[in-house]
Amino acid sequence: MCNYSSTISFWNNIFHNKVNKVPQKIENIIMQNDIEAAIKFLTTDSKVILDYGCGSGTMLLKCAIHSNIEKCIGIDISNEAILLSSKAATYNHLKHKFSLKCDDLSYLSTLNENSIDGCILSNILDNVTINDCDKIMNYINKITKPNGKILIKLNPYLNDKKLNEYGLTLLNDNLYIEKEGIYLRNLDTSEWTSLIENYFSIVNFKEIYFDEFNQFNRLFLLFNKK
Ligand SMILES: C[S@@+](CC[C@H](N)C(=O)[O-])C[C@H]1O[C@@H](n2cnc3c(N)ncnc32)[C@H](O)[C@@H]1O
Repeated sequence: MCNYSSTISFWNNIFHNKVNKVPQKIENIIMQNDIEAAIKFLTTDSKVILDYGCGSGTMLLKCAIHSNIEKCIGIDISNEAILLSSKAATYNHLKHKFSLKCDDLSYLSTLNENSIDGCILSNILDNVTINDCDKIMNYINKITKPNGKILIKLNPYLNDKKLNEYGLTLLNDNLYIEKEGIYLRNLDTSEWTSLIENYFSIVNFKEIYFDEFNQFNRLFLLFNKK
């Protein structure tokens, strides 16, 4: 049985409701300042960018507008996410740079070693199982060039009060499941830092605030370690 059937239904529903709306010009989408800076970090001197769990594809589009970027690979387990990304890429006349795939982490094993310059893992590593989180970091480490760049964005760490408030159920080892059936791995920043440093070296870490969700996220900018 697929571990992600609830995840797929949840995100298909979210993205399905957006797919028939008119896409926006990517130049008109203003991202949080630190995300814009992170995109600059990822795209400088890069040609190939990969986004695992790309969702609507907005971050990839932000990368694709840089003239040095030749290829943007977006992977997502939700077919509606891939449809939406594809529609947005076409609307922005950037489809020729895009390779989009509705798949899970097994797709990462089909990509050549050292073929990627920059990777985006935005709100995905803490929404997959513990085993899959490690597999994703392992694959990203292999397919990204030595000293390639990686962006990891994580949900905020939740204290016991918040865990109760959000109605999360503990599965094992700080892996929770939300009411909608989405996984949340609730580790503090030092625990995430130790896991991340098995594969990558930290260039910058910042807690960044998102007005629209009234929430902080944790943003790591990294170099690949080989
Ligand atoms: C929280 S959204 C983040 C979307 C985008 N990265 C962003 O930051 O805006 C999580 C995305 O990851 C996708 N996803 C969840 N589990 C996945 C998995 N095991 N493999 C691939 N994609 C997955 C979901 O379909 C959804 O599009």
